[in-house]
Amino acid sequence: MQRRLYLASYGCQMNERDSEEVLGMLTAQGYEIAEAPEAADVILLNTCSVRQHAEERAYGKMAELSALKHERPGLILGLVGCMAKLHQAQVFKRLPEVDLVAGPAELYDLPYLLAEIQEKRQRIVAVDRPVRPLDRKPAGDYRRPGITAFVTIMEGCDKACTYCIVPKTRGQEVSRPAEEILAEISRLVQAGYQEVTLLGQNVNSYGKRFPDGSGYQGPVGRRRLLEEEPDTLLDFPALLRRIDASVRNGDRPLRAQSPFRLRFTTSHPFDANERLFEAMRDCDSVCEWLHLPVQSGSNRVLRAMRRGYTAEAYLENISLLRRLIPDISLSTDLIVGFPGETEEDFEATVRLVGEVRYDSAYIFKYSPRSGTDAAAREDGVPQDVKEDRNQRLLGLQAEIEQAKQRAWVGRRAEVLFERPGKGPSQWFGRTRGNHGVIVEHPAELAGRSMDVTITGTTAHTLLGALASPVPAACAD
Ligand code: 5AD
Ligand code: SF4
Repeated sequence: MQRRLYLASYGCQMNERDSEEVLGMLTAQGYEIAEAPEAADVILLNTCSVRQHAEERAYGKMAELSALKHERPGLILGLVGCMAKLHQAQVFKRLPEVDLVAGPAELYDLPYLLAEIQEKRQRIVAVDRPVRPLDRKPAGDYRRPGITAFVTIMEGCDKACTYCIVPKTRGQEVSRPAEEILAEISRLVQAGYQEVTLLGQNVNSYGKRFPDGSGYQGPVGRRRLLEEEPDTLLDFPALLRRIDASVRNGDRPLRAQSPFRLRFTTSHPFDANERLFEAMRDCDSVCEWLHLPVQSGSNRVLRAMRRGYTAEAYLENISLLRRLIPDISLSTDLIVGFPGETEEDFEATVRLVGEVRYDSAYIFKYSPRSGTDAAAREDGVPQDVKEDRNQRLLGLQAEIEQAKQRAWVGRRAEVLFERPGKGPSQWFGRTRGNHGVIVEHPAELAGRSMDVTITGTTAHTLLGALASPVPAACAD
């Protein structure tokens, strides 16, 4: 029987990569990828729980898809990922047509779970694994075709930020063995990908726990190893250095003429330190970009969020980073309206944002997540105050971004082109600092890394022109 699979992904880049892994495993089992839900026999939504809004979107989409089942009772509907782990069998109350509810740790079980549903025609809830068994990944891989690719280096999160549901949905940290990561990157390089983004909830704690039980034991263990046997410590900076050396020495295909680029996300400020910044500085392939979510500029709020750093320590870290890598580009995440946040607390955030001058920032209104410590607090910020602070911070960030974008006009940047832009003859690419750039050019630029002169700006994107012609040898 022909089985066609439609999968839609919500939430973070980890989820996007997870979805690729699911497509890989299931196509290896004989499934075909369907481009539209109407053409599928199995529909999976890979969901996110980080904010209420993300959950509502997935519930809404699944309710819409449930209608298809009335016409085709054989259709299998699955809700997987973070929301599945949280809501478990309650999903059936709102969505009785759903057949499968499987958490992030159960993604490698999907081939078996879907086969079981097909055979026995019964609903399954699979949410009990504490961690994903990284060493038992079923065969098969899939990647979105393109120039850039994601590589997951760790799963889960051991932090306990009081607003965040992720430790509950994704469980304890586990790191992938370095050899596997290096082999995956080598395959990607061979396949022509020119940029890899390493993914993890907190990439900076990489190396703490491998599937075989090895790895350093917490920050104290890491410090001891650093002092006593630094060469044996496999932490995130060491991994960056190993990857950088491998792509420099490796046999990249001839057609890959651009310098290979490495990025990573997300970094927790508590674990991002001089050792990381030095590795970033020393590794040619690592782009001059760091996403370092600060969440708030108020020490009182940071303490209540259990972030483990003060605004002063964060700013000191940024100064150190800027001393080591002067042209570093920075982005961040901010939450406004955390319970108990006063106007004074908010102003401290405004001051910090004004001081750091981020190249970009994701600004979120606090969303209570049931089961987190913060959700139990009774001093929630009224919705209209949250909205007002959100707008003020967005306004400030827009001003900073526009000023920083304008400062680019007239300068040159190395741009790796990823895909066509929206307009005719337009191409979209990124600088090493992760700024989006649009260039008009009659011939294909995707996959090329070119020197571009920045000529103008739009709200979030730079406009540019090629600083030199496309080399004849590789012109199309
Ligand atoms: N409410 C609002 N934003 C949140 N984030 C995480 N949890 C919440 C929440 N409960 C934001 C943080 C995090 C980003 C991925 O999502 O800023 O860094
Ligand atoms: Fe959403 Fe967080 Fe889960 Fe990613 S890890 S899908 S952001 S809840």
